[in-house]
Amino acid sequence: MEKFRFLTAGESHGKGLTAIIEGIPSGFEINPDFINAELKRRQQGYGRGGRMKIETDTVEILSGIRFGKTLGSPVALFIKNKDFENWEKIMSINPQDYTEEKSFSAYRPGHADFAGSVKYNQKDLRNILERSSARQTAIEVAVGTVAKQILNTLGISCSSKILQIGKAANEADFHKEIDTAKESGDTLGGKIEVIFSGLPVGLGSHVHWDRKLDGLVAQAVMSIPAIKAVEIGDNPLGLTGSEYHDEMYLEGEKVVRKTNHAGGIEGGMTNGENLVVKAIMKPIPTLRKPLNTVDSSTMQETQAHFERSDTCAVEACAVVAEARIACVLVNEILLKFGGDSLEEILKNKEHGKSHIDCF
Ligand SMILES: Cc1cc2nc3c(=O)[nH]c(=O)nc-3n(C[C@H](O)[C@H](O)[C@H](O)COP(=O)(O)O)c2cc1C
Repeated sequence: MEKFRFLTAGESHGKGLTAIIEGIPSGFEINPDFINAELKRRQQGYGRGGRMKIETDTVEILSGIRFGKTLGSPVALFIKNKDFENWEKIMSINPQDYTEEKSFSAYRPGHADFAGSVKYNQKDLRNILERSSARQTAIEVAVGTVAKQILNTLGISCSSKILQIGKAANEADFHKEIDTAKESGDTLGGKIEVIFSGLPVGLGSHVHWDRKLDGLVAQAVMSIPAIKAVEIGDNPLGLTGSEYHDEMYLEGEKVVRKTNHAGGIEGGMTNGENLVVKAIMKPIPTLRKPLNTVDSSTMQETQAHFERSDTCAVEACAVVAEARIACVLVNEILLKFGGDSLEEILKNKEHGKSHIDCF
């Protein structure tokens, strides 16, 4: 069920990236400076490639906001690809501009090149790279930052951190791990954690498989390029029930817990504790020391295509994960509290208070 919906469009080296968000009630303050600050966070991080130096992403809000507040109408966002000026002919929409400059045919193992080119019947693998590139996560962060501002207005906030990069599980070792990979032309993945606090009890539902919040969050995070595993709360593997489950106590009339192994979701619903989501990112598939592969035009074995690429993007990935989860949570807030304006949502939230004081 989707109340907060969005679609994005745009190629990595095209004119820019676009999104249209539908379903935002009126009256929410949206500040483009906050979106730009989050776009900057996505571009930073040790181990990023050269592109981050030429692009400083800036959002343009095309509709849906007047004098700083949402109108209830669709919000359209645009991020210009500053590199487009170097790619104008190569990415032209006009058939008379046809060129094979920047075309490539040596599949990159781990990327979308092989399956995408078979599926869409494309000989030039650039036609797959341009959309499968994680460049599209820039506009997803912009959309997610609109969602974050809605959540912030309702007292919900988020943070994230890096748990592991390559084999390094301590912050002090992260840069060294990335330097070593970079020197040998290799790449790294890692593990991140995102935490949302201030969530009401009862977002999501136990009544249908497709309304369970853990499933919805997992899908949103798994859809981020290179994410291969999502955990809610602590890994329960090997733990006993008494070790894992979060026992309940009373503090006056308030139900409280001393632990949060469940990561804030029980039965597919928020339980009033912090939502804790962990995700594992695989190593970046484009390597400077290329992997063995096949060339689709010659059908000979060869070395994979290389172009400017990150050594490690785990830090950026955490920002993207915050954004993706924020969209899921806004949708659930709108499903639970309804309303076409901020005032209506606040009223519904107040009226909807449960008989149990749980936060
Ligand atoms: C923030 C971010 C940056 C990324 N940067 C690169 C990159 O520079 N080069 C690359 O080959 N893959 C990069 N990736 C990963 C690929 O986009 C991803 O592996 C590819 O689209 C295939 O999808 P899959 O790994 O989900 O199967 C990045 C991913 C994220 C989230």
